[in-house]
Amino acid sequence: MKNIRTQVGIIGAGPAGLTLAHWLKQHGIASVILENRSREYVSSRVRAGLLEQNTVDIYKNLGLAERLLKEGQEHHGVYLNFDGKRIRIPFGELTEGRNITIYGQQEIVKDLTDAWYALGGELYFEAEATKIEGFEGISPSIHFMYQGEEGRLECDFVAACDGFHGIGRKTLPKDSFHEFSTTYPFSWLGILANVAPSTDELIYAYHENGFALHSLRSDKVSRLYIQVDNDDHIDNWSDERIWEELSIRLGTEGWTLNAGPIFEKSITPMRSFFTDNMQFGRLFLAGDAAHIVPPTGGKGLNLAVADVKHLVDGFVGYYHNNSMKMLDSYSEIALKRIWRAQDFSNFMTTLFHKQDVHGSFTYHLQKAKFDYIGISKAYATTIAENYVGLPFDKF
Ligand code: FAD
Ligand code: PHB
Repeated sequence: MKNIRTQVGIIGAGPAGLTLAHWLKQHGIASVILENRSREYVSSRVRAGLLEQNTVDIYKNLGLAERLLKEGQEHHGVYLNFDGKRIRIPFGELTEGRNITIYGQQEIVKDLTDAWYALGGELYFEAEATKIEGFEGISPSIHFMYQGEEGRLECDFVAACDGFHGIGRKTLPKDSFHEFSTTYPFSWLGILANVAPSTDELIYAYHENGFALHSLRSDKVSRLYIQVDNDDHIDNWSDERIWEELSIRLGTEGWTLNAGPIFEKSITPMRSFFTDNMQFGRLFLAGDAAHIVPPTGGKGLNLAVADVKHLVDGFVGYYHNNSMKMLDSYSEIALKRIWRAQDFSNFMTTLFHKQDVHGSFTYHLQKAKFDYIGISKAYATTIAENYVGLPFDKF
């Protein structure tokens, strides 16, 4: 194909890559995005839905939040269930008015892709990055395959926003990082259903049958999850069985769950993973390329956007102030929030999932935590401020 030249070469058109491209453009910094999947595939991939206050504010400031503000639903609290007892954590009074917004990740990807093309931005779908070269020096390049031909994207910097299975992390020299990972002994079966949500705010539930989460996408579409075994199979779960189990696990006195036609169902494994170095020379990792958190707490997408914020600060320092200082400390700055999110996601996961037989020592520790949240403003505040996301000026 062709050789292309830009300032920042971006691999991946997920939330991290698209947000980076837009944000750089606002600072007059050019970028080109390579994405190995098709536009249709990427914009219909069902994943996260919970946006922290920081994330919403970033899209507002970038002028990319028109549909998000119209169709997204702002939530001012969250319900927590344990053995059928329900409590609510109100965000407003515990977090100085910070909130979360529910808006599907694929909608963000759609909005950012449309806006990028409308600005005349370069984004190649079905363009697979195959090799990153020269990042130890000052002229890196990304080799890629596009429409059956080889191409080369020459740039000043490479931003690998290419997710967990991408080539960015695998390209870092082996002795430049350590990896940490935990695989949980359970997975999430997630559904999307054409039914009005049975709740105004999310419900996270521990039940002796296992974890359940009631989330939503709109007034007419509900998003729900249940804990299943790692070796379970989607064929074992008829729609009827899913609704029955959700109703049991989310149940509390005086509340009923509305069932409706399910139009999407899949099983996702749960893991925590991260690398303690996200850069080498002129190659930088952002988002799932560098870390995975279990979805309890909804941090994955928000962390990806937070990485991008720090990366943009670094590129602005380089292009506008001729300084590598911020870029050189990118990993160190980003990792503080990543560790915080790893801890919070692990906390929420172990608090609400069934890990051992009901009534075991582990169960009683979980219950003790839940009971304490119900009576302690301090404990509830800890959960609320992590859940809505810590502000950038504090952390
Ligand atoms: P991604 O969205 O993975 O984007 C990376 C992009 O890079 C992809 O489009 C990929 O196709 C592309 N790419 C990869 N390799 C190459 C290559 N060689 N060349 C070109 N392009 C390449 N988080 C939550 O908070 N809540 C959830 O419920 C939730 N559910 C999830 C379910 C699943 C199945 C998965 C995988 C993740 C889920 N997450 C969830 C996590 C959240 O979706 C991610 O944290 C978020 O997508 C991270 O964005 P990203 O841009 O870093 O990576
Ligand atoms: C979602 O709406 O998909 C969602 C919400 C909260 C989570 C995880 C997923 O913790």
